Amino acid sequence: MTTVDVVLWTVLPYVALTVFVVGHVWRWRVDQFGWTTRTTQVLESRWLRLGSPLFHIGILMAIAGHAMGLLVPKTWTEAVGVSEHTYHVMALAGGVAAAVLVVVGLVLLLLRRVVNGRVRRTTNRMDKALYLVLTAVITFGVVGTVGRNLLGGGYDYRETIAVWFRGVFWFHPRPELMVDVPLVFQLHALSALVLFAMWPFTRLVHVWSVPLAYLCRPYVVYRRRRPRTARLGAAAVSAPAAGVSGGRGHRPPRGPSFR
Ligand code: HEM
Repeated sequence: MTTVDVVLWTVLPYVALTVFVVGHVWRWRVDQFGWTTRTTQVLESRWLRLGSPLFHIGILMAIAGHAMGLLVPKTWTEAVGVSEHTYHVMALAGGVAAAVLVVVGLVLLLLRRVVNGRVRRTTNRMDKALYLVLTAVITFGVVGTVGRNLLGGGYDYRETIAVWFRGVFWFHPRPELMVDVPLVFQLHALSALVLFAMWPFTRLVHVWSVPLAYLCRPYVVYRRRRPRTARLGAAAVSAPAAGVSGGRGHRPPRGPSFR
C-alpha cells in the first residue's frame, strides 16, 4: 500500500466528511434564504414533470440499495438465510431498475438545462460543477453495476468496499481494502467523496428540507365568506369609531379564508 492509497482512502474520506458537516453548519448560519432547490419550474415544467420524478425515484431506490449493500454486513444477511446468490440477484434487479430511472431522469434534466434558454441562463457555476460531479458519480456507479455485475463476471463489493465504508464511520479506516477494487468502483467512491464535500455549497442542501410535515399536517380548512350583512355588523362592532366618522372601517380580507 502506498502513501497515495492512504491519502485517497483515509485522508480524503475524513476531509470530505468534515467539509460536509462543517459546511452545512456554516451554510445554515449565513445563508438560510439561499437554502432552497432554486427551482426553475416556473420557467419550464413539461420536461421537469417527467425528468424530476424519474431521477428522484431512481436515486431513492439507489440509496436504499446502498444502505443495504454498504451498511449491512454480509454475515448478517447470511445469518438470516439470504445466500450470496439470492442477494446478488436481488441487488442486481433493484440496482439495474434504479440505474435506468436515474439515467433517464438525469439525461432529461441535463437536456432541459442545455436546450431551454431560460433554464440555461439561471444555471450558475456551482450548478454546472454539481451536474458534472453528479454525472460522474452516477456514470461510474451505473457502469460498475451494469458492466461488472450484470454483464461481467460479478464483483462482491460487500467484502471490500462495504467493509472500508463502514470502517470510515467506526473511525477504524482500512485503506488496504480499496487497493485492489476495480477501477470503476474506485472512481465511483472517489467522485462520491467529492460530491459530499461540495454538497453544503450547492442546491443539494434541499435534500434536508423535504417537507415531511405535509404528511401529517392538519387539512387546510376553507370557510365560506360570511354574508355581507353579517360582515357589516361585525365591522360596526369591532370598529365603531370608524363607522361614526365615516372612515373606511374594518374590512375582512377578501376571498376564502383559511387557517
Ligand atoms: C462513498 C460512497 C459510495 C459508495 C462506497 C458507493 C458504492 C456503490 C457500489 C458498490 C455500487 C454497485 C452496486 C451493485 O452493483 O449492486 C454502486 C452503484 C451505484 N451508485 Fe454508489 N456508492 C457511493 C455513493 C453514491 C452516491 C452519492 C450516489 C448518487 C448520487 C450513488 C449512485 C449510484 C448509482 C446510481 C449506482 C447504480 C445503481 C445501483 O446499483 O444502485 N452512489 N455504488
